[in-house]
Amino acid sequence: MSAQDSSFVEVVQLSKRFGAELAVREVNLAVARGEFVTLLGPSGCGKTTTLRCIAGLERPDAGEIRIDGQVVTAPEREIHFNPEDRNIGMVFQSYAVWPHMTVFDNVAYGLRVRRVNDAEMKARTNKALELVGLGHLADRYATKLSGGQRQRVALARAIAYEPKVILFDEPLSNLDAKLREQMRIELVRLQHEVGITSIYVTHDQSEALVMSDRVVVMDKGVIQQVGDPETIYARPANAFVANFIGVANLLEGRLLSRSGDVSEVEIPAGDGFAPLHLKAAGGEGASRGQKIILSLRPEDISLHLQRPEGGSAVNLMDAEVIDTVYLGNFLDCRVKVGAHEVTLQIDHFERLSPGQKVFLTFWPDHGLCLTE
Ligand SMILES: Nc1ncnc2c1ncn2[C@@H]1O[C@H](COP(=O)(O)OP(=O)(O)O)[C@@H](O)[C@H]1O
Ligand SMILES: [Mg+2]
Repeated sequence: MSAQDSSFVEVVQLSKRFGAELAVREVNLAVARGEFVTLLGPSGCGKTTTLRCIAGLERPDAGEIRIDGQVVTAPEREIHFNPEDRNIGMVFQSYAVWPHMTVFDNVAYGLRVRRVNDAEMKARTNKALELVGLGHLADRYATKLSGGQRQRVALARAIAYEPKVILFDEPLSNLDAKLREQMRIELVRLQHEVGITSIYVTHDQSEALVMSDRVVVMDKGVIQQVGDPETIYARPANAFVANFIGVANLLEGRLLSRSGDVSEVEIPAGDGFAPLHLKAAGGEGASRGQKIILSLRPEDISLHLQRPEGGSAVNLMDAEVIDTVYLGNFLDCRVKVGAHEVTLQIDHFERLSPGQKVFLTFWPDHGLCLTE
């Protein structure tokens, strides 16, 4: 892979202000050719603004954006390419289809505007419609389409003129849950088939984890972590990411010691309870006494009805059942550990009653010490 391929879209030190508010703060991002990268974060964290800067719909205050080696945005040098000169496709949340046109004409529109000759226009439009599974509806008026079909029309239009990059801004969020899950899979299949570089925005963590080659987690205009889905899930860089990506139990304490890859932490358990002494991964670079947040995923905690003995009694905690929720193939169980509330998932169906004493353990490499 050449240097240019590994940074097909480059965003360097991008900042954008709205009045006094810094919506995007020194964002750096390199997207490889053919890669599917997702910007993920809560509402208002600057995802759309970043995407709109890449599209040329927004003028940033500082930074530089390059697409395929071409500088398209550089406010300090007064460079700003208009959206139509960037060779990008866009698919947004609202179905931007024209109701008074047929499916075919909706998709062909962009090619006609670009004065692509008739034969090629027809060929590319039909190919795009086949790709999104709408070939048989080419003559239908857009008013007669379902939400999912309209979004497919928007997608076909975006890919028909073979842009260098497609930008997606929450394209599935207006669809019902079932269709949304189906469209996720279809979109990824299509992206692999066409091999087009994609930058996708969503606030939905499962969508991001399922679809992306890499995920960029943002909060308050700042990138918190960039990584493949496995890394983001298993090794969140900080408490924000751990919390946002999945349900994580976050327990605050202090570092007691470190040996090898294992940190030992002390976590106050509340008035009248002995503090917890637990061993977990992470905490590299932290010093003794430093504040630590222990992240424990619900599926990584084991529940025992009897006090475990010997080798399996690692990170043993006394707990008391608050309640359980049956979730189809597992139980979601809330317990109290001292004054903390901890959520865990168990895949067996013991009868657990509120107030019942139980015991929790977790393997040290399943817990993660975060330092911020
Ligand atoms: N045109 C605008 N004028 C003023 N403030 C804006 C404008 N667009 C976005 N913002 C603000 O910038 C921040 C980031 O917004 P946005 O990029 O839309 O976030 P996201 O897409 O992650 O929800 C928000 O606080 C939002 O209110
Ligand atoms: Mg947005």
